[in-house]
Amino acid sequence: MPDVFDRDLTLAAVRVCEMAAIASFSMVGRGDEKQADQAAVDAMRNGLNALDISGRIVIGEGERDEAPMLYIGEEVGRGNGPRVDIALDPLEGTTLTAKAMPNALAVMAFAPEGGMLNAPDTYMDKIAVGPGYAEGVVDLDASPADNVRALAKAKGVDPREITALVLDRTRHAPIMASLREVGARVMLITDGDVAGVMNTADPSTGVDIYLGQGGAPEGVLACAALKCVGGQFQGRLVFRNEDERERARRFGVTEFDRKYTLNELVRSEAIFAATGVTKGALLDGVRFEQGPGGRFVHTHTIVMNSAQKTVSEVRAKRPA
Ligand code: FBP
Repeated sequence: MPDVFDRDLTLAAVRVCEMAAIASFSMVGRGDEKQADQAAVDAMRNGLNALDISGRIVIGEGERDEAPMLYIGEEVGRGNGPRVDIALDPLEGTTLTAKAMPNALAVMAFAPEGGMLNAPDTYMDKIAVGPGYAEGVVDLDASPADNVRALAKAKGVDPREITALVLDRTRHAPIMASLREVGARVMLITDGDVAGVMNTADPSTGVDIYLGQGGAPEGVLACAALKCVGGQFQGRLVFRNEDERERARRFGVTEFDRKYTLNELVRSEAIFAATGVTKGALLDGVRFEQGPGGRFVHTHTIVMNSAQKTVSEVRAKRPA
């Protein structure tokens, strides 16, 4: 098994996400998305640069000319360990953080070199369901109504009992109309579709299916998570102009209309970690505690390793 799946690297992923979450927490509710993101980026970069890896960012803050830190292609780590590809979103939910709303996360995934699609920073049409269904039970090219019908049949319930999670965007009006046509419950989120996709694999959330268009980088990160817990995902890159197509070409994308499956977006085993910044359905947020013993900070992280088939939750308390 490659070194990248050593237990130590799993714990390293936890530590790096914890650092990013704690740093961005200082900006929760302060109305400044940029500063919140910058705090998370700085902390995540420092954390990664302290690791004994030869890391390369494949999903990051953007291309080199627009992102000075954690840009795609940036080498991170001390350069003395295994070659690792890294997908990250130091703050998934910048608006959620700025407005002190639930579900903001610090997110990261490790994979062996070449293990994850080098996705351009474009949109992606996405569909996801949790584990336990026959492969292909839903399909990105079918209508949302037909997908709900198929899923309801597979689950043995009425379509009205299916809950679909959708980002609340005007571009999703046709999806909403199709879901309403079949009577599905629609749960709307304002941001954060990595967590949205992950919710399909967590029965306690009640979410059966995720549908809609969000960031392509977030699609790859969500796939790293589903790779560990099971579930299905299909995604197709969406290009709004020639500039975005050109970006994709630079990333090696040749088939612009390709429908990617989970195993094409994340080809190898992967380690995925997410720490809650603000409290959400999956994770508690960062919490500071001032007591007679001093000041402490609490964090809640989920970390998964698809090679070892482990899913762990880490609740940490450390002096602040
Ligand atoms: P940021 O943290 O970068 O703000 O992304 C939040 C997010 O909601 C993602 O989860 C989602 O994929 C994307 O934005 C959707 O993009 P848009 O806000 O343009 O619809």
